[in-house]
Amino acid sequence: MKKHILVVPGDGIGAEVTAVGKQVLEVIAQKFGHEFTYDEALIGHVAIEATGSPLPEETLTKMKSADAVLFGAVGHPKYDNDPSAKVRPEQGLLQMRKELGLYANLRPIKLFDELLEASSIKPEILRGADILFFRELTGDVYFGKRERLEEGNTAYDTMIYSKYEVERIVRKAFEAARTRSKRLCSVDKANVLESSRLWREVVQAIAPEYPDVTVEHQFIDAAAMLLIKDPKRFDVVVTGNLFGDILTDEASQIAGSMGMLASASVGDSTGVYEPIHGSAHDITGKGVANPLASVLSVALLLEISFGLKAEAEAVISAVDAVLKGGYRTRDIADADTPADKVLGTNQMGEQVLAQLA
Ligand code: IPM
Ligand code: MN
Repeated sequence: MKKHILVVPGDGIGAEVTAVGKQVLEVIAQKFGHEFTYDEALIGHVAIEATGSPLPEETLTKMKSADAVLFGAVGHPKYDNDPSAKVRPEQGLLQMRKELGLYANLRPIKLFDELLEASSIKPEILRGADILFFRELTGDVYFGKRERLEEGNTAYDTMIYSKYEVERIVRKAFEAARTRSKRLCSVDKANVLESSRLWREVVQAIAPEYPDVTVEHQFIDAAAMLLIKDPKRFDVVVTGNLFGDILTDEASQIAGSMGMLASASVGDSTGVYEPIHGSAHDITGKGVANPLASVLSVALLLEISFGLKAEAEAVISAVDAVLKGGYRTRDIADADTPADKVLGTNQMGEQVLAQLA
């Protein structure tokens, strides 16, 4: 199979982890006889520094013509404490999602057995947890009208959804539920928000098309509580952009670390695959970032954009084997991990490559 992959490292640890992801792609291509070609492009803070724009036109053009995008992270601490900055790295990410029509963000929460102890949740509560989140990604308060009024002393953001936006993500979630345990939980705040009442209405209207899937509705506050109390009660979860952002960071603790979670953003155009973690400037350049979220993003890329299931499984098995071998990056190590098994980013990458080869 011939495919063209655009690597977009972005900011902070993005460069370190996507470098490992790309090596995994190269080994997979060799091993399975594929021909992958690569290009690179800028986004976020590094793009602002180089071009003045967080999403240069050239990057967008390259994204549209690629078969898939392997993405790192965006963000820079400089902007976090400067709310007045007009141009921000995150704008690049949001514009990319909008321009590529990436309305469905899939975030699988898979707990590798070896990491049961890495979570702050009790192992008996966690064992067997396996959740697939569908986070809507191009609507909601992320894209609604926002403004400052009263000489800057009042501000508002608009939480807005149209029926078709809810329908298309909810359908994707129903389809996925069909291939799993046939349970779908829709999360909203319909007891307060009008946009959530529309959301729930749409889910209820679509449900009869999937009589084999059991649907449950939860309010976001209760869902956040239940996720920690009893993660196994969830299988496929569908929710809006903001609630999905928050719930999936919380759910990362089920998998032991943010450093373990991959995501796929798909929709109308090229799929984008990225860790759910951010740019992590506190550890940038130290060589200690966990590259496994990027490696697992590669697995999603291979399966979803290229339909290469065996290749995706090979990547996941390699990660599993490395963890079984006792190797850990700092974020997933604990007091019992021998010092010589606590690896840096590249060493962890080398272990995965060795398993694959
Ligand atoms: C994510 C991130 C982004 C989001 C930020 C960086 C804008 O947290 O991809 O989850 O909120 O969507
Ligand atoms: Mn987030």
